[in-house]
Amino acid sequence: MTLDDEAAIAELDEVAAEVRVCPLCELARTRTHAVPGEGPPRARVMLIGEGPGWHEDQQGRPFVGNSGKFLNELLAAAGLEREDVFITNVVKCRPPGNRDPLPDEIAACSGYLDRQIQAINPDIIVTLGRFSMARWFPGERISKIHGQAKRDGRRLIVPMYHPAAALHQGALRGAITDDFAKLPKLLAEAERTRSVEAEQAAKPARQMGMF
Ligand code: URA
Ligand code: SF4
Repeated sequence: MTLDDEAAIAELDEVAAEVRVCPLCELARTRTHAVPGEGPPRARVMLIGEGPGWHEDQQGRPFVGNSGKFLNELLAAAGLEREDVFITNVVKCRPPGNRDPLPDEIAACSGYLDRQIQAINPDIIVTLGRFSMARWFPGERISKIHGQAKRDGRRLIVPMYHPAAALHQGALRGAITDDFAKLPKLLAEAERTRSVEAEQAAKPARQMGMF
């Protein structure tokens, strides 16, 4: 394990520990369990949903209810195991009655998401639904841009419908299935970009006779 991996693990553990006792917004008062998110610290793909629902609040784990079951199917169809991806949400505590998260709650929670993204440094971020989409595509409409990857530095951001919405609406179900099916190709592309970058980074050292 490299030092980078250890640092990433330590930071993700620290974020999770802070989230579990976080008092930074109103949602702290009604949660059963905060849901920091889970997955490998070196995940190449990170999925960002909206916020915990009833089941997630009960278990303290993301996407374990009906939309989680559908998400697992979508991942499997794209050749990805749930264990390969890091899954979290825009807000880490359940909005009562599954209402939309409020702007001040999203703002209060965003520091945790920033730190998770920085620690994991994924090649691809998939936003699930409007609220995580708004972070990278403010003012855009999901019906217009879903499935279209946008570059953010060396990273790709792919906006997708929320599985809970897609589960019950035939047309959206087809769309989210097609969008997930694009992931293997996008991952292969990201892999190529990363190896070219690594190659270029290694060159000066080699020319200087360091290897
Ligand atoms: N919906 C979400 O947005 N996140 C979850 O964790 C579960 C359902
Ligand atoms: Fe803290 Fe985020 Fe939970 Fe609000 S939603 S209490 S900011 S962890």
